[in-house]
Amino acid sequence: SESERRPRIEAALSELGDDVVVLGHNYQRREIVEHADFVGDSYELSKRAAEADAEYVIFGGVTFMAESADIITDDDQTVILPSMEASCPMAGMAEALQVDAAWAEITAAAPDAEIIPITYMNSYADLKAFCASQGGLVCTSSNAHRAFEWAFERGDKVLFLPDKHLGENTAHRLGMEDEVATWDPWDPAGKDPDEVVESDIICWDGYCQVHERFTTEHVEQVREDNPEASVVVHPECRREVVEAADVVGSTSTICETIETADPGETWAIGTEIHLTEHLQRWHPDVEVLPLCGDACMDCNAMRQIDPNYLTWVLEELVAGRERNVIEVAADEKELAGVALERMLEV
Ligand code: 13P
Ligand code: SF4
Repeated sequence: SESERRPRIEAALSELGDDVVVLGHNYQRREIVEHADFVGDSYELSKRAAEADAEYVIFGGVTFMAESADIITDDDQTVILPSMEASCPMAGMAEALQVDAAWAEITAAAPDAEIIPITYMNSYADLKAFCASQGGLVCTSSNAHRAFEWAFERGDKVLFLPDKHLGENTAHRLGMEDEVATWDPWDPAGKDPDEVVESDIICWDGYCQVHERFTTEHVEQVREDNPEASVVVHPECRREVVEAADVVGSTSTICETIETADPGETWAIGTEIHLTEHLQRWHPDVEVLPLCGDACMDCNAMRQIDPNYLTWVLEELVAGRERNVIEVAADEKELAGVALERMLEV
């Protein structure tokens, strides 16, 4: 139970002292974020990982985030993911082998164009390495527009992976909404590479199964039930949902929106349910509602980080055993690091 677990986690953390830093993504359960030294969005967590000087980084998040932390931290630092089951389905939608094949088709269809691949942070290290090898970079939801600008200063077209919604929303933000085409790797017969490469922004047909479920009906319903409510959503939501919202942004933008709201304001939040619940708890003077009403927008990958596993990895470390170490292969690490450094620079 929580009452037994809490003192065990606290005892292990105090025993490990400065040897350990705990990072928690905004979507983690309450019992994880309460023990985190820092809670934030993907971009902030990658910066914190880069700055950390603890020997062990315990990552409350999903595999691709822990991989990025391993790439960014020094070689003598170890990244631990409390559950090896915490894999983001969207990251799995663009496998490096599959992207290699698509890249060959796309570049053959546009031999004179300079195409820059950009991958969302929500991808595995081998895909990040691929992007770096082709002159591209990584972005998160908070800096995708800057990554696109960086790419268009160097090339003519962007291949954006894996999230088509973030790609479309970013194109819109840059006034390039008429320049978007989608590349569906699961339907090779359904696309004509010559047609797709006519567009300047080619979006891989991936999506987040949590955010894609938000609809304009949710927005209409919340506005009907709460005429005074404003709506803030994550850019992994569909274009029309973003269009219907008042504010769009990364999980840290969503947090800032509620932090800076006046007491008594009502905000409906279109993102993973744990963050909505944290914001309700952290800001009791603001009325915080889930945009989806009773439909639970729960990320199963984030949920895998169970507080029992946090207790286990910490107590094992106290006993001198490293469990669930996330280690990216050396060759991928170097190139993926280039893609991440380019992001931290833009
Ligand atoms: P943020 O970068 O906004 O924290 O988002 C990460 C994520 O996985 C959203 O689904
Ligand atoms: Fe992946 Fe979506 Fe979960 Fe974020 S919320 S980790 S994109 S499945």
